[in-house]
Amino acid sequence: MTTAKAFSCIVKAKPPVSPLVIPEFKYANVYLVLFAWYQLSGFTIVCVLRFLLGSVIVVCGVFALYLSAEEERILRGFEGEARARALEVIVRVGEALGASRLIEIKHAHISGVSYENIGDFGVEFIEGFRALGARFSVPTSVNPVSYDVDDLSSIPGVTFERSYVEAQEAIVRALRDMGADLIFTCTPYYAGIPEVYGLKAGDHVAWGESSAVAYANSVLGIRTNREGGPLALMAAIAGRTYYYGMHVEGERKPTISYVLEPRVVLDEVEAGVLGELVARMHVGERPPHVVALFEGDSALKEFLAALGTVSDIAMAHIHNITPENPGDEIKEVVKISYNMLEEELREKMPTDEVDIVYIGCPHSSLEELMKLAKTLEGTGTIKARIVVSTSREVYLKALKLGLVERLRRAKANIVRSSCLIVSPFANHNRGVKVATNSYKAYHYLSRKGVKAYLTRISYIKHLAKT
Ligand code: F3S
Repeated sequence: MTTAKAFSCIVKAKPPVSPLVIPEFKYANVYLVLFAWYQLSGFTIVCVLRFLLGSVIVVCGVFALYLSAEEERILRGFEGEARARALEVIVRVGEALGASRLIEIKHAHISGVSYENIGDFGVEFIEGFRALGARFSVPTSVNPVSYDVDDLSSIPGVTFERSYVEAQEAIVRALRDMGADLIFTCTPYYAGIPEVYGLKAGDHVAWGESSAVAYANSVLGIRTNREGGPLALMAAIAGRTYYYGMHVEGERKPTISYVLEPRVVLDEVEAGVLGELVARMHVGERPPHVVALFEGDSALKEFLAALGTVSDIAMAHIHNITPENPGDEIKEVVKISYNMLEEELREKMPTDEVDIVYIGCPHSSLEELMKLAKTLEGTGTIKARIVVSTSREVYLKALKLGLVERLRRAKANIVRSSCLIVSPFANHNRGVKVATNSYKAYHYLSRKGVKAYLTRISYIKHLAKT
């Protein structure tokens, strides 16, 4: 189900305001749609079975979810209709999953805020909640939007119609009115969110954006399920999510370990390919345990983003990185050879010159910008466009360090608050050859009709004009 269709169904559904323990069937579509959208997004047999089981459980009303007196009060509408509706959806999904209770969250991060992805139904849905007087109950940040809000011309080959900009602005206005922190990035961890809101290992949040979810669980030890955009929005308004999956201590303990041999230190692009391999091999509900060495934080970011792209995995327990005990339930050790990884990468590398080199999916860290600037400076004039996407926060830090000037001097396009995937870039650049160090960008650009390849940042040197 596409995001736009999910929004369409949700908008048409009429969730009740009164508290319900066993749902009336006519209301079931709201959470079943959300549930189906979330569960089927990975397209795995396990997900289909989980969905079917969840549906049977809902229809039979087998599980009753415990609600505190405060939650009952919210559901009765004492804190407004919007909060009651949002909590209702969370309760329904929690019941469908078999959660025993809800849990308070400290923060929410909402994905699916790009007009390109959610269309008019998404605008209607978000504006509908704002019209009901919805306010976020916890600090809430948001993912990238469909264009660079500071520079409409920074996405190559794309010009935006006034009506398109107005639709995106309507989404942003509604989110702002509800109290969102408009960071427009998929790397809230590089934009200072954990520091600003005092988030630490063991805290519970509700984040959308698969790459950020995997980073939160695996690197920061912050607990979140992989919420769909609408569910993260509901959790932000309700201030709660269901106690299930990655929120439960025991569910975070791995049973299968993946060991890279020999223990080569992986750069970003190799890390992405390892993420893809682990995601394809992994079976079961528990997070995979991974033994590998990563060159830096950007490589970790790319590994986790690839993992979340190819599967519905929300966490990897990474040896010497994840700040919690993996437990002692590992029953199987799978060895992955570095040769296999190299072969996989070689197949996806460009054999010819490309038109664009794209860095920054998920949004670039300062470390990645430095590496790019250094490579560009030693290369001279390049026969391709260099595009890098990052958050406004990292951009400001790069500006202070003189990095932005160095990148611009080397003719790099810097995109803030958006990226080549959630913008209409692909619609305007079919057949264009793009090389990227991000497995996630490679995956989505290929699916959108762009000729995408995987490469290292150092590949830029081969594109120098002689
Ligand atoms: Fe971020 Fe866009 Fe990639 S939102 S994770 S840069 S697809």
